[in-house]
Amino acid sequence: MKTRIGILTGGGDCPGLNAVTRAVVKSAAKRGWEALGILGGFEGLLSPTQTRPLDYHEMDGLLYLGGTILGTANTGRFSAKAGHGESRAIERAILDEAKDNFRKLGLRALVVVGGDGSLSIAQQCLEHGIPIVGVPKTIDNDLEGTVITFGFDSAVAFATDALDRLRTTAQSHNRVIVCEMMGRYAGWITAHSGIAGGADVILIPEIPFNYDSICRKITEREGEGKRFTLVAVAEGAREAGRDFVTQGSSGAIREARLGGIGAAVATEIAKRTGKETRVCVLGHLQRGGAPTTFDRLLCTRFGVRAVRLIAEEQYGMMVALRPPDTDAVPIKEAVGKLRRVPIDGDILRTARDLGISLGD
Ligand code: F6P
Repeated sequence: MKTRIGILTGGGDCPGLNAVTRAVVKSAAKRGWEALGILGGFEGLLSPTQTRPLDYHEMDGLLYLGGTILGTANTGRFSAKAGHGESRAIERAILDEAKDNFRKLGLRALVVVGGDGSLSIAQQCLEHGIPIVGVPKTIDNDLEGTVITFGFDSAVAFATDALDRLRTTAQSHNRVIVCEMMGRYAGWITAHSGIAGGADVILIPEIPFNYDSICRKITEREGEGKRFTLVAVAEGAREAGRDFVTQGSSGAIREARLGGIGAAVATEIAKRTGKETRVCVLGHLQRGGAPTTFDRLLCTRFGVRAVRLIAEEQYGMMVALRPPDTDAVPIKEAVGKLRRVPIDGDILRTARDLGISLGD
């Protein structure tokens, strides 16, 4: 009997998931192993199991295909998260069923590709006796243990392109344009694309903002003859002393859906400055499409390293990037923590030294 490994993708999708799947399947095949896709995230491990054989010859074209051919889920019986780091215990009966099915499928180990939520579930499955290795995914880039998660670079590239486009129309009309980006607890996408895309104001969850400061920057620009302003705001950014702007709760065991801070900021700026102001929400566009070159390479290295970890029986480990090499760190050291943009780090100091307002 050939060695057979499983792979699943969990949580919100992002560019590069298929590139990881391809790398896992190809490098497994080179070892003479079979790969089985578990469909719809961890739910696919529950009865009746949902799987598909992943043939080496079917991997062509997956390197640059967005989404995930395995499907994914951030709802269902495996939901383990109400907020970042707030991991809930999965019911024992669910873990038993998953372990039983894992055995019935003849799997040696499982590659779990996910962010904090999916890797928290992976850790619980691991402690329940399912051999697992993890691959770190999230456009938010807020996972510990790796200097970067895959998907982040693709999201930043998209957001930067959006700012480039918004700049020309803002400039033509002498408007303020507020661009809302993803980033629930960490403002990595907004900080990186904001600097790369020439935003004048960058608002991130790490730094509570106030409107006086934002409007001062707009007035200052007017004084310099710059009659337009670009504001990049992360969905998780908050006015000092206020809470997240949400679209309501998603249920007891899910994180609230964020969204609306861009509109709130635009309304307040228009009221205070009298400037014509527009808002653009990038939303799930940041999670779609093809991965960048950087992400394709990272996903490929991560997928191949995950298979090598299985060959070395290093279960419970997550692949990570520690330049110039990939590395392996215990999954439990990566989950339940939050990696935020360092307030005194080089990224934000660069922004400040350029005169970009961080709203504080
Ligand atoms: O965690 C990644 C993320 O993109 C967050 O930035 C965002 O709040 C969330 O996913 C949106 O998830 P959903 O697809 O459930 O709307």
